[in-house]
Amino acid sequence: MGLVVLELLKRFSALVSILLLTASATMFILHKRIAMSLLIRNGLVVTGAAQGIGDVLCVGEKIVAVGDRLDAPSGVEVVDATGKYIFPGFIDPHTHIHLPFMGTLAKDTYETGTRAALVGGTTTIFDMCCPGRDTPHWDGYREWRDRAGGRACCDYSFHMGVTHFDRASSPGELRRIVEEGVSSFKVFLAYKGALGIDDEALAQTLSLARELGVVTAAHCENETLVSELQGALLRAGRTGPEAHHDSRPPRVEAEGVHHLMTFAEMMRAPVYIVHLSCREALEEALRARARGVSVRIETLIQYLTLSKTHAEQPAFEGAKFVMSPPLRDAANHDALWNALEQGLVDTVATDHAPFDFATQKRMGEGDFTKIPNGIPALEDRINLLHTQGVLTGKIRLSTLVNVASTNPAKIFGLYPRKGTVQPGADADLVVYDPGARGIISARTQQMNVDYSAFEGWETCGRPELVTLRGRVVVRDGHHVGTPGDGQFLRRPAQPPRFS
Ligand code: URP
Ligand code: ZN
Ligand code: ZN
Repeated sequence: MGLVVLELLKRFSALVSILLLTASATMFILHKRIAMSLLIRNGLVVTGAAQGIGDVLCVGEKIVAVGDRLDAPSGVEVVDATGKYIFPGFIDPHTHIHLPFMGTLAKDTYETGTRAALVGGTTTIFDMCCPGRDTPHWDGYREWRDRAGGRACCDYSFHMGVTHFDRASSPGELRRIVEEGVSSFKVFLAYKGALGIDDEALAQTLSLARELGVVTAAHCENETLVSELQGALLRAGRTGPEAHHDSRPPRVEAEGVHHLMTFAEMMRAPVYIVHLSCREALEEALRARARGVSVRIETLIQYLTLSKTHAEQPAFEGAKFVMSPPLRDAANHDALWNALEQGLVDTVATDHAPFDFATQKRMGEGDFTKIPNGIPALEDRINLLHTQGVLTGKIRLSTLVNVASTNPAKIFGLYPRKGTVQPGADADLVVYDPGARGIISARTQQMNVDYSAFEGWETCGRPELVTLRGRVVVRDGHHVGTPGDGQFLRRPAQPPRFS
């Protein structure tokens, strides 16, 4: 009898311990959930389609309600957004955080680059996975994934750079990468002998992309013309950064676009033109779109705000402004702003590619073709779009949201998880103070690079608070998150949603 009682007591105490453990685990989870609940009150909620004063309630990683005077669940953190905008987290569809290029390595790491992104209001980046032409696609992809994993502060995806195409091995490897959730390719029609591919590889890549249901992004410049013009300029003694523009004039870019349009049409593959810089190239793209080619167009904040005169500054200062395609005549600015506002150009990216002026850009002193190409801007994109675009009346607030968040999400298969403010979407939000004044400077920026192309520019507007899947990662303009907060975003292959 005694033994039976003892055994029952043992079982009872085991049961009690299990119940206690379960209860404390539940309390812990509940506490975490409550701790991660956030109510943003009384801001102007701005999406690409509508705007109105309201509240946004986030629980865990998701937005659960958007409305007027929402009830505050107990324990919720309440943020007063009176006088502020509530934007969906911004998406930069074209960055280079890890980039071995032109004999050097871009300066940011996934930690520094994505921290800068968040401070600038960007909660998702699409980084270009650009392995060398001798590296198998799968190995290249793994390298980029491994570098970003556990380090990125914001969410991220990749465009898979196809820098070579082998009929035997490429289709299988690329299919596997698409199955991993990387549902876009990237090709370079420029950079002869380096990242660029020939026409045969282009046709094969587009054909495979169509079969797999993925979009191909392309850098459009005619590489043969670029290398011919570069040679001629150098032989004529034009060796400084100011010659860069003439080695890649608008017609060379327009020819690259025309070329891609023809291939996309023949292969019946959807394409995305990266970093379109000028009217001539835009006309080629729009002509193709009018005849039914499935083409989406990206421009950059640099092409909307800087011009070729920046690259013409003396004492090699112009090297800070060398990128490809080059900065154009300022007459192109209005054409690009108008095209954004009319919905003809779909996205504004940064093509963030940071190279230090003191050491890396100087590799091209005496030969402009050796200046590492790129102008960092990941941190500045939204404030510049707001200051230079919205406040000047060139674009509406809703256009800003469309080109910098909603459209990238739609084109690359993240919508409506990202790119909007609605129940069920990831709670990536930017509480934006439209009146906050700032001055851009390399001394204060988060990007790991020793200069700013926008040094001394005044900005009006600032991301005050940023959430990433419900967690506050920027407070009062300062990063308060941790490396590793960012998640790799799987994007299943699908026919692109363009409307
Ligand atoms: O100049 C640029 N655009 N640098 C980054 C590499 C590329 O072409 O996108
Ligand atoms: Zn490019
Ligand atoms: Zn790029």
